[in-house]
Amino acid sequence: MILAGSGAGVLARSVARRLGLRSSPVRVERFPDGELLVRLPSRLPREVALFQSFHAPVQERIVEAIFAAAAARAAGARRIDLVAPYFPYLRQDRAFRAGEGVSHRATARLFSAWFDGVVIVEPHLHRTPTLDELFAVPARAVSAAPVIAAWLRRLGRHVLVVGPDQESVRWARAAAALAGCETRILSKRRLSPSRVRVEVSGLPDLAGRDVVLVDDILSTGRTLVEAAKGLRARGARTVRAAAVHGLFAPGALAALRRARVPVVCTNTVPGPAARLDVAPLLAAVLGQQ
Ligand code: R5P
Repeated sequence: MILAGSGAGVLARSVARRLGLRSSPVRVERFPDGELLVRLPSRLPREVALFQSFHAPVQERIVEAIFAAAAARAAGARRIDLVAPYFPYLRQDRAFRAGEGVSHRATARLFSAWFDGVVIVEPHLHRTPTLDELFAVPARAVSAAPVIAAWLRRLGRHVLVVGPDQESVRWARAAAALAGCETRILSKRRLSPSRVRVEVSGLPDLAGRDVVLVDDILSTGRTLVEAAKGLRARGARTVRAAAVHGLFAPGALAALRRARVPVVCTNTVPGPAARLDVAPLLAAVLGQQ
């Protein structure tokens, strides 16, 4: 049985339909003081999968998922898997300044305490190469490359796929390879949470080229906007972008529109640009378990 958390309702129901499974929503109510109450059916089968995507409000969705796991256990579930189309806090994978918390490990530990297994679509793995190093329970990463590649193939093999920073090597190369496109990787320096500098030197002449930026996460949109500016300055004819997780922090959509960067995302996070469907990928993975 699939339990549909507030952040992944549509995707949970779609995967349940594909697998011929029942689904039930996680009902969330709020007490007058702001605390949350989670309600599930009072009897559940032994095995359930909780779908939750951790986009804003991220802290509330974390609390909801943990309370839902506790309620599922009380309702008879003996094995509870977390299916996270978007899993949060993986980018803070080291203390960038003294005293900062390393949130990727802390978050993984928290979920390991409540779930028996974890499935995550395109986790942001950079300095920690595998999920097994983070989670104490079996954890599986699902690459979104096939759906990005299918979209790239519709544009044509002539497009140049560009990853905007060193971290994007994994996802940009994987999608480009499946689509048969050439890839280049840029380098980026983050000056603050909302300011980045993207270096485009070392690229071939882009005169007349159609370029597609491929990244895993779109938050403020600054990475894509700055990369697009650099690519246009080197002659690119068109620049568009694909991101797996479209978080769209306030102002991101407007910034991308001003920079004339059309963007498409997967539906790991619901939103206006979420046009690439990962439900078949998740159904295939869950169908094997
Ligand atoms: C981090 O390096 C990620 O791969 C993305 O490049 C980053 O999260 C994008 O953030 P923003 O849209 O705020 O530039």
